[in-house]
Amino acid sequence: MPGTVEIKPGLYWIGSEDPELRLFDDLFPTEHGTTYNAYLLKGGDKNVVIDTVKGKRTDEFMDKLRSLVDIKSIDYIIVNHAESDHSGSLSYLLDQSPDATVISTVAARNFLSNLMRKPFKSQIVKEGDTLDIGGRKLRFILAPFMHWPDTMFTRLEEENVLFSCDAFGAHYCNPGRIFDDQVEDFTSARHFYFDCIFRPFKDKVLYAVDKIRHDAIDLLCPSHGPVMRKEPWKAIQQFESWSRPSSSHRRIYIFYISPHGNTEKMAEAVANGAACSEIEVKNFHISRLDAGDLRELLEEADALVFGIPTINRDIPKPMWDTLAYLSTVKLKNNLAAVFGSYGWSGEACSMAEERLKGLGFNIPAPAVRTQFTPTSEVLEQCEALGREIAAEVLKKG
Ligand SMILES: [Fe+2]
Ligand SMILES: [Fe+2]
Repeated sequence: MPGTVEIKPGLYWIGSEDPELRLFDDLFPTEHGTTYNAYLLKGGDKNVVIDTVKGKRTDEFMDKLRSLVDIKSIDYIIVNHAESDHSGSLSYLLDQSPDATVISTVAARNFLSNLMRKPFKSQIVKEGDTLDIGGRKLRFILAPFMHWPDTMFTRLEEENVLFSCDAFGAHYCNPGRIFDDQVEDFTSARHFYFDCIFRPFKDKVLYAVDKIRHDAIDLLCPSHGPVMRKEPWKAIQQFESWSRPSSSHRRIYIFYISPHGNTEKMAEAVANGAACSEIEVKNFHISRLDAGDLRELLEEADALVFGIPTINRDIPKPMWDTLAYLSTVKLKNNLAAVFGSYGWSGEACSMAEERLKGLGFNIPAPAVRTQFTPTSEVLEQCEALGREIAAEVLKKG
């Protein structure tokens, strides 16, 4: 475990490494572990802590701080984002330095109040506000939804250092090596982190990148993963490129599974009905897609159609998994339709419609269902369903 690291004169990394972590927040696999990065600025008139670490690492964090500064002399604690992996040590730190002022957005202040359930000295900052810390100046850049609505970036102005919290980070830890030029390329870990956390907020990523595009950045200090001193813009540009819309073509994608071939026949009929010169229509058997492909396709499509057989009175698990991805991606339109074959009961379509409605989808036509083999009349209904969804896509222009 590294101790503190002076990353610029008077600026210290005081974070914590967690290389053995294999699941973050009970949600996201972390093949390479992670780090909880926090920073200390000292040497001017003021001592400033920028973010803290996860609660389980409080002792280590406090030891590092104590090795550099008298805890009672801390003037400001900047909270870029209130989530507990960055604010987990804040309550304890405030007990030791009760005069310190917490600087944050108004949303983060409200979150912290409800997280810590105790009073604390607070200073709210707005877009572009600055803080003079004696020979050095900090500027605050609001970056909502990077990753929560509360989030902001902090910039050490003259030295071109950006503290971006979750943004532009990665769940990646190579113990003892905190800089990007000390580790192998970890783009795949960064991309996976982006997919897990930022994919639903692509428009917010583009908004935030636009705000910093014209700033010089010599050192990028995120709160997870290596500090970027060799290629600070690489992470920002990758986040930007992963957030850009892939194409302006209109597309209807049909996702299905079909144990006995009946739902597949219906999928072909839906595709025939939807086909027209202005729209690309494609069928995908979901068992042939990995998670990354599936998320890309869900985001590309202007409308999603799901072919769902009923198995054991339920939606089959691979299709439940597909429906679960819908809340983890940035969809173009919330437009969908459902169809499927069943044997002795047929609940799956209505279950899927409930799920989709719960996510705010517009379902312009009722599901087409059939028992076992679709008749020619049922296939005509499927074609009509395809036409209807295509008309809705064209209506959106
Ligand atoms: Fe977060
Ligand atoms: Fe985080």
